[in-house]
Amino acid sequence: MIKFLEDKNIWILETANTAYVFGIWKDDHIKNLYWGKKLIFDYDYPDFIDYPLRDFWLWDEEISVRGEANFVDHCIKVEYFDGVRDLNLKYKKHSINENILEIFMLDEYYNFEIILSYNVLESFDIIERKIIAKNLSDNKIKLEDFKSSSVYLPAKDCNLNYLTGMWAHESRLQKEVVSEGKRVLESRHGHTSAFANPFFAIDYNASEDYGDVYFGLIAWSGNWKITVQKQMYERIAVVLGMNEWDFSFILDSNEFIESPVVSLGFSEDGFTKMSQILHRYQMDNVMPQDKSHEIRKVLYNSWEATTFNVTEDNQKLLAKKAADIGVELFVVDDGWFGKRYSDNAGLGDWYINKEKFPNGLKPLIDYVNSLGMDFGLWVEPEMVNPDSDLYRNNPDWVVSFPNRPRTEKRNQLILNLAKTEVKDFIIKFMSDLLSENNIKFIKWDMNRPFYESGWSEKNIENQREIWYYYTKNLYDIWEILREKFPHVTFESCSSGGARVDHGILKYADQVWTSDNTDPFDRQVIQEGFSYAYNSKIMVCWVTDWGGKNAYPIEYRFHSAMMGTLGIGADLNKYSSEELNIFKDQISLYKDIRNIIQNGYQYRLLSTKKDNHYAIQYLSRDKNEGVLIFLKNPEKANVFGKIILTFKGLEASSIYCVEGYYEKISGLALMKKGIAIDLRKNIAFSVLSSKHFDSKVIKFKKIGK
Ligand code: GLA
Repeated sequence: MIKFLEDKNIWILETANTAYVFGIWKDDHIKNLYWGKKLIFDYDYPDFIDYPLRDFWLWDEEISVRGEANFVDHCIKVEYFDGVRDLNLKYKKHSINENILEIFMLDEYYNFEIILSYNVLESFDIIERKIIAKNLSDNKIKLEDFKSSSVYLPAKDCNLNYLTGMWAHESRLQKEVVSEGKRVLESRHGHTSAFANPFFAIDYNASEDYGDVYFGLIAWSGNWKITVQKQMYERIAVVLGMNEWDFSFILDSNEFIESPVVSLGFSEDGFTKMSQILHRYQMDNVMPQDKSHEIRKVLYNSWEATTFNVTEDNQKLLAKKAADIGVELFVVDDGWFGKRYSDNAGLGDWYINKEKFPNGLKPLIDYVNSLGMDFGLWVEPEMVNPDSDLYRNNPDWVVSFPNRPRTEKRNQLILNLAKTEVKDFIIKFMSDLLSENNIKFIKWDMNRPFYESGWSEKNIENQREIWYYYTKNLYDIWEILREKFPHVTFESCSSGGARVDHGILKYADQVWTSDNTDPFDRQVIQEGFSYAYNSKIMVCWVTDWGGKNAYPIEYRFHSAMMGTLGIGADLNKYSSEELNIFKDQISLYKDIRNIIQNGYQYRLLSTKKDNHYAIQYLSRDKNEGVLIFLKNPEKANVFGKIILTFKGLEASSIYCVEGYYEKISGLALMKKGIAIDLRKNIAFSVLSSKHFDSKVIKFKKIGK
């Protein structure tokens, strides 16, 4: 719902539970007035009469720019042809088209137009924002900063929550007090990065179930930046979008550029609600809609079993075992192409290695299909090993500066996707691969960050556009491939979970969460992940991490069932009794995966805060659910009971909880809960220093 109050020059954007209000201030500046819970009447919202106007500096600008007395971190910085860097934007007009509001602003002297675009997703409680910059003049305009949005939050005590980490420890949730000054979260790695994720949540003493939380995410898989700025007497300013670090972009006459979309939301019911809003929004809006509601298949990936030593025979052996335990998709990872015997060589040579697969991939794919499974393949199209034919033939395709080193990481260099030849090469080899083979799944990897980011054949003034065009062309490639091969499911991977964001999620059906598959470490990674992203995209494998016997098989499965289940263990190491446990667990997962992948999620216990981990899932129709509990193995001396109280049930409905209650009211489950006895069903002795226990508890509504 979008309203414009003409008498007050104010726009009111309302979603089911939230409102976002701003208006035309004097001098045609656009100022934000309110963001938060939806109020009852239009006149309830603050307007410029309530608003403490100040003339000495600009704050609360709907788009903060370098120009005039604007001290909020900037969204837009320009330099005009004559060296002027002071951007003066004035409101000109607006248009409302159903749920889309566009506000046209102009720097009249230089004919530079900025369109502020708002997409109000009412039932999702999300507002999407982006900006479009158009050069309407005859001269070039240089952009030195082009972020998507500035937003303002109440000036009260609050905390910043964000996801950070590193390789193998992604998406760890952090929380800190927002204090005066500026806090920066960013990526300068050329990809989304494992160091931080383009997500923020600011809470006002909120818990899982109560309290105000403001949140936002950037749909961009390149360099991004979020700044949180607190200043005495001012509302907290959050500015988010593409990183201005090493960025510039030349707009020629009549050219335009569109910023990444940022998704903004508010929950007055704490973090659970925030996550549920995001999960549903991703599933119904962000992810490719042709597949977002489809059940994800149980996959087997041979990487941890065979690493680079893939052959037709060893893959067939694994495929047979995988099919026997109930796997539905068999994926061959790295090592099937070029001279790829280690990570020293072969990247870029995307032809089948005839020593390993003498008759191509067809015999293996046919065999996998005959076992009733789909076939999937790993690729890393953005990279090249210097020891490859591709590099030998096209040394100028890589990202680098002349007269500077080309430093390798994992023995590889980055192909410059900003170049049309590179983009065309990737589209061509991927199209050939996907049309010549019956491939239903692609794991698209990207295993090194950017540095030495030169694009030397461009004019000097355009060279920094590499950051923008690399990511834009990556999206174009995925868009083309999805369109050409609608039957293929795509997974985004970047040394684990370093490319997880709303930008890639427009094209990717799922993501590889982390190379760390330890079922205990994973709890912290998966918990952090669940704040911002849904469980369907979160791929989790059962592996031999830490050694085959480091954890009971069930414990590993229960940890990996919290998302889309995969198996990465070397199945050759397991006895038939053990493989029967795999089979039972996969069958259990198939039974509950619709609830886990498509339902609502409630975090009951946090490994970090409560020692143990528990998540409850509820189907979309709220009629059935499942609760997964994982005991912390380090807490061997806990012999008592853990009480788990359910969430989100109908108080007066009757439920049955498998193994606990044949009949119990929703109210009782939410207040009394169930008691998990840690002395029962323990897989290892209670006297052992590692004491594992885990449970999957199903429940359903049986009446009113
Ligand atoms: C990355 C990925 C792994 C695997 C290897 C293959 O590290 O995260 O899952 O695909 O590359 O080289």
